[in-house]
Amino acid sequence: MRLLVLGGNGVLGSNVVSAAMARGWEVVATHHSDRPGFDVPSHQLDIRDSARFESLLDRVDPAAVVNCAAMTDVDGCESDPDLARAINGDAPGKVAGACATRDSAFCHVSTDYVFDGSDRELYGESADPNPIQVYGESKLAGDAAVRDTHPSPLVVRPSFVYGVHRPDGSLAGFPAWVRDRLRAGETLSLFTDQHVTPSRAGQVASVLLRLLADGERGTCNVACRTCTTPYDIGVALRERLGREEAPIEAASQGDVDRPADRPRHTCLDVSKVEDRLDTAQPTLDEDLDAVESALTAE
Ligand SMILES: NC(=O)c1ccc[n+]([C@@H]2O[C@H](COP(=O)([O-])OP(=O)(O)OC[C@H]3O[C@@H](n4cnc5c(N)ncnc54)[C@H](OP(=O)(O)O)[C@@H]3O)[C@@H](O)[C@H]2O)c1
Repeated sequence: MRLLVLGGNGVLGSNVVSAAMARGWEVVATHHSDRPGFDVPSHQLDIRDSARFESLLDRVDPAAVVNCAAMTDVDGCESDPDLARAINGDAPGKVAGACATRDSAFCHVSTDYVFDGSDRELYGESADPNPIQVYGESKLAGDAAVRDTHPSPLVVRPSFVYGVHRPDGSLAGFPAWVRDRLRAGETLSLFTDQHVTPSRAGQVASVLLRLLADGERGTCNVACRTCTTPYDIGVALRERLGREEAPIEAASQGDVDRPADRPRHTCLDVSKVEDRLDTAQPTLDEDLDAVESALTAE
């Protein structure tokens, strides 16, 4: 199996490269700014550059392409909506269309931010999207474009992605942010009114590849089974770091002035992926166990 991974130096992309290599697949990556540290070929690519992508596709001739490239800075998308729409909304459809004409399978990565967060139930794959910020609008446009241009894409939808960046082993995302502030002696203020099912990048990557290999297509939520808040995650991390005395204040999203609104409740229903794989998704505790050594590394 030859796999082409777009965004191979991102948190999720680097885990997809790593998991595919562990499966013994032949992997070619693309990177945007910095080349990933893997011993696989990586080509610089801006996914808006369709001609360059098509030329690469012809040279690599992959059985499948996984698109982990995106503009993920939610506030940055709000301040530059044209750039967000070009990267997250327009480019994925062109990339998927080029794969379709060459009979390559295509996997795209969506987001829980396609939802408005007003529903306190878990969001299933067929829940109605209604994004409340430019990032979510642009990602929703990308999801739609992929479905328009490829006959059978796999669309994996994670939430609140964090994990161990590969191959260097450093922790990335919210747990790293919490750890670094606790170590700096700062008092943390963490939201109690944002509910998410955090997705560990290594877990998403291995599930994504298994779904792809099994021929699963359509949309699939991939996240942990625990619906929780940044406050509760912070408390769990504080305990794991042995810093129980460090103060963590309960905060509300309304306390912070940010360019983009965030949904309040985007916990994902993971029963579909559990049924398909006949395996329970991990709890948050199990996922944090998996990143423990990177979390506690000095
Ligand atoms: N982070 C989350 O909480 C979260 C939650 C749900 C879904 N997702 C989705 O998960 C996917 C992976 O995100 P992630 O968490 O791994 O974020 P990430 O670490 O920011 O990875 C995104 C990658 O895309 C690259 N990129 C940005 N602009 C590009 C462009 N114009 N052309 C090509 N590559 C470009 C970035 O490279 P540079 O850094 O070099 O620009 C980066 O390596 C995305 O589709 C994201 O929307 C993320």
